Amino acid sequence: MKYNVLLLGSGGREHALAWKISQSPLLGNFYALPGNPGINSLAEGIDGSSGDFELIRRTVVEKHIDMVVCGPEDPLVNGLKDFLESCQDVPADLLFVGPGKDGAMLEGSKDFAKEFMARHGIPTAAYRTFTSEQKDDALEFMRGLRPPYVVKADGLAAGKGVIISSSFDEAAGALESIFGGRFGAAGAKVVIEEYLDGVEVSYFVLTDGHRWLMLPEAKDYKRIWDGDKGPNTGGMGSVSPVPFCDAAFTDKVVQRIIEPTVRGLESEGVDYRGFIFFGLMNCSGDPYVIEYNVRMGDPETESVMPRIGSDLLSHLAAAARGDLSGEKLAVLHQAAVTCIVVSGGYPEKYGKGYPISGIDNLVPLTVFNAGTALKDGQLVTSGGRVLAVTALGGSLTDARESVYSRIDRVSFEGAFHRSDIALDMINWPGHK
Ligand code: AMP
Ligand code: GLY
Repeated sequence: MKYNVLLLGSGGREHALAWKISQSPLLGNFYALPGNPGINSLAEGIDGSSGDFELIRRTVVEKHIDMVVCGPEDPLVNGLKDFLESCQDVPADLLFVGPGKDGAMLEGSKDFAKEFMARHGIPTAAYRTFTSEQKDDALEFMRGLRPPYVVKADGLAAGKGVIISSSFDEAAGALESIFGGRFGAAGAKVVIEEYLDGVEVSYFVLTDGHRWLMLPEAKDYKRIWDGDKGPNTGGMGSVSPVPFCDAAFTDKVVQRIIEPTVRGLESEGVDYRGFIFFGLMNCSGDPYVIEYNVRMGDPETESVMPRIGSDLLSHLAAAARGDLSGEKLAVLHQAAVTCIVVSGGYPEKYGKGYPISGIDNLVPLTVFNAGTALKDGQLVTSGGRVLAVTALGGSLTDARESVYSRIDRVSFEGAFHRSDIALDMINWPGHK
């Protein structure tokens, strides 16, 4: 059996997924909607948007697609799976990787996720949810908390819906602005929660709704400058494995978080087939859920995919079919370090269209395209985060050296990257 696969999305995460999928002997024809120049060197690109459900339906039918793999969250939260299932001309046995609208609520509504965790005894920060009519109650509740204050828009806000402030006035201002429409409908409800003090880590599973495969864990670096300073970005780098995620910690994550999450979905009748991304805080050795995502992470995927030693496409097909029982995911012992090359000025104002040169000089590193485009045959920048450069090595130290000894060989006007990705993890107490 060969699978004709349609991959949705256009970022570094999707390029990493495409890179891994394209290594499978089970792959038939491969399409990406819309893809990017990196992805489209592996898959035939289809112009359009991953939010255009009609176009996706047409593509599935016309290209005889067997499997849809959805990279980003928006189509999932907006019910792409349910839509395709409702189309008469879409084969009933189409494999779809990603949850339906019900399961995607885990990411689509923070209030839903918090209530789900409360129902199933899953450790997370104490919280309350308020609507705009309850603004005074919200302020009252916040007055009872200790700073820093964590204020979150309930719905999808492109990763920008969380505001953490050390002053009450600033937090009250944030609350005001969210209720005032800063994130549109995503801010109709606001979650205010306890601040969790610890170190973040991302765990990932691929589930068939009952069983799951654990992917390698990873850590991302969100701030623009070295030392985790400056504004938040879409991610400046990632590492895998994460030194504090030893067997004891991972065991807690499985027992307290992954198992009750999958059982919880099962018991609530949610037929969840796809990735679950657990955004966790390690608070003195105990894991707490910060957020669920219903997709893989970016830039974590760029470090995770190169560490998978088994056939991802086979795993995806089994998960989407609802039976992972015959699958085993192999994890390589090697460590991965990913460094993102961004355009100068990002995450604020930055230019686009700068010619990119030197990618071929990065061998043996793997370069995933994030924000690139082709202009008259020349690869140019088309976004803030431009390239994800990943190295594998015998250790995080080796992988890090491998990235940083070569990364300056790629260039475009104003190119910038952090120089300290992985350092904190290499220096983690007890890490060899
Ligand atoms: P989210 O969009 O929910 O991932 O939140 C964005 C970032 O805010 C997270 O990655 C954390 O760094 C931080 N954050 C969110 N919730 C909390 C919390 N309760 N305590 C501390 N930091 C948090
Ligand atoms: N790296 C965090 C995310 O993908 O949401």
